[in-house]
Amino acid sequence: MCTSSEAPVVKVLTLFPDMVRTVLETSMAGRAARQGQVRYEVVDIRDFCVDKHRTVDDKAYGGGPGMIMMAQPVVEAVESCRTHDDATVILTTPQGETFSEGLTLEFLAELQEKGELIIICGHYKGIDERARQLVVNREVSLGDYVLTGGELPALVIADAVVRRLDGVLGNSDSADNDSFTELRAGGLDCQWYTKPTEYRGLSVPEILLSGHHANIEKWRGEQAVLRTRERRPELLKDFQKPDSAKE
Ligand code: ADE
Repeated sequence: MCTSSEAPVVKVLTLFPDMVRTVLETSMAGRAARQGQVRYEVVDIRDFCVDKHRTVDDKAYGGGPGMIMMAQPVVEAVESCRTHDDATVILTTPQGETFSEGLTLEFLAELQEKGELIIICGHYKGIDERARQLVVNREVSLGDYVLTGGELPALVIADAVVRRLDGVLGNSDSADNDSFTELRAGGLDCQWYTKPTEYRGLSVPEILLSGHHANIEKWRGEQAVLRTRERRPELLKDFQKPDSAKE
């Protein structure tokens, strides 16, 4: 565990620092920083270019379409901000492990342990393999599709991790019954309602108005199982029914 009293730092290395800063300053991620629960460091990879045109990419050796991010600016950008030799350095790439709540919790533990989490936004056709070998230790994909850059995936990872830091969510319980959590046994969350009790002929289920908390929790557990079975049956493979849904 990082013993420093300073907030843990999420460091994002990017070619589009303004885009990343704007998102990190907004909403819950921004509030977490303003409340001192986390800090963000946005590093412009171009600041580490050695030529006057601030070139970060070039054609691939051996030919082929697309540009490749050069190793030198990426490696030096990581070295400039990394404070632990064994810090987790994530590269966003379609070739990485698919992002999940499980990975979120791993990265959260790393952030709390080492006090930093470094995310490199991949770009163009990819980065020079030597940068990957020298400084990257985790590669993460958002899914089986290709985006124009790694900023959105990096922001998704940062958001998912930061919301899990203590005190970031307004109601400390509100992450516990999300989809993919222990309470939901790795499955989906149930449906939720708020005021009014009737809207365009659609009513809130009676049980939610009963005030009987044990029955409400049991119903929610059952609905979560049904929803998981309907929408994501593959999640039921490792499914352990929550107590509230056992019967
Ligand atoms: N960069 C481009 N596409 C991506 C994806 N699907 N996941 C992570 N990084 C990416």
